[in-house]
Amino acid sequence: MVPREIRPGIFWVGVNDRTTDLFEGIWPLPHGVSYNAYLVVGRKIALIDSVKEHYAEEFVRNIAEVVEPARIDYLVVNHMEPDHSGALPLLRRMAPNAEILAAPPARPMLAGFYGIAERVRAVADGERLDLGGKILSFHHIPFVHWPETMATYEETEGVLFPCDAFGGFRALDGVLFADEVDFSLYEDEILRYFANIVGMQSQAVLRAIEKLKGLRIEVIAPSHGLIWRKNPERVVELYARWARMEGEAGVALIFGSMYGETRKAAEALARGVAEEGLPVRVLDAGRIHPSFLVRDAWRFSGLALGSPTYDAGVFPPVEYALRLLERKRLKNRVVALFGSHGWKGGALRKLREKVEELGWEVVGELGFPGEPGPGELSGARELGKALAQRIKTLAKI
Ligand SMILES: Cc1cc2nc3c(=O)[nH]c(=O)nc-3n(C[C@H](O)[C@H](O)[C@H](O)COP(=O)(O)O)c2cc1C
Ligand SMILES: [Fe+2]
Ligand SMILES: [Fe+2]
Repeated sequence: MVPREIRPGIFWVGVNDRTTDLFEGIWPLPHGVSYNAYLVVGRKIALIDSVKEHYAEEFVRNIAEVVEPARIDYLVVNHMEPDHSGALPLLRRMAPNAEILAAPPARPMLAGFYGIAERVRAVADGERLDLGGKILSFHHIPFVHWPETMATYEETEGVLFPCDAFGGFRALDGVLFADEVDFSLYEDEILRYFANIVGMQSQAVLRAIEKLKGLRIEVIAPSHGLIWRKNPERVVELYARWARMEGEAGVALIFGSMYGETRKAAEALARGVAEEGLPVRVLDAGRIHPSFLVRDAWRFSGLALGSPTYDAGVFPPVEYALRLLERKRLKNRVVALFGSHGWKGGALRKLREKVEELGWEVVGELGFPGEPGPGELSGARELGKALAQRIKTLAKI
């Protein structure tokens, strides 16, 4: 995409990535992702963030449409993860005089990742930099997403560059701003990004939101996805709600099934939830990448976990999804458990132990041998209803 002036003297010069299959080598990108970077042009010129190495040349061409790269005075590195820092070696060659500005923990990382030690200056929390006509300030927001992460703020235009915070998956389809798109197309991918990439750092996200509150923010310009120039508080509220792990009233029904027995109970349980008027998403853990399961578990306050017994334990795709939720420290969930077994079972006991360890509330449990009979199917439906009723009570609906 071509560069675009988002505010006087502030230009988006990022790139869309539609060729990386797996972000961080694990998360699928069916709709791509953007690496946003910004030029702030005062009498001096600062470049905020960069892009993944693979896209470095395209990125430099974008920059060159706005300014001669050699004229850049400062390379602001909000975050060292290579999706934002990968073009630094090329930038160093194209802008040899530019000074790198980053939070103190970035210094050893710059050396470790790129062998860069020269012309690096660690900026203090709250430090200001007058570019002449534009004024930057730097705000450390550790662990949103790595320890060195900071947000940069341009005072005259009120633009916040928070890097990973408030970003999302999904490339920018010809536009840049949230008010230019059907947001419902983007929201799921913003949540999938939040849950899988920064969800584990939810406390740090909440601390950052609190810390940045004092700034007069007109525009939020993250380093992935949409830019917010109208109602930037909307994305802040979304992030805050997700970070508080409140969950919308509804159910993510995550199940696995080898021969369809657990699946039959899943259908009945979903019906029970729907009969109580709550949304339910039925997700086959064996077929759907876990990042989508994590996303929907993050979205809803209710979880239904269905697993056949497999080698005396939980069916591996369900176990993996639960393990990811544990790693990401998801809290405040109400849960129903169900599943088929051949002889002695064991999956449900293991699921229950894990769920209790996570501090989630178990509403009920339904195990059955082989195929669920009529009584068991109505039991699954009742379990769905009981789960939905508990969710509604907690949500005061
Ligand atoms: C590889 C494999 C391992 C299994 N291990 C157990 C087990 O340890 N204990 C048990 O009770 N049933 C076990 N079963 C039987 C299944 O739990 C049973 O067939 C169940 O009905 C499958 O439900 P599903 O069709 O929803 O997958 C196993 C089945 C397979 C194929
Ligand atoms: Fe990151
Ligand atoms: Fe990132």
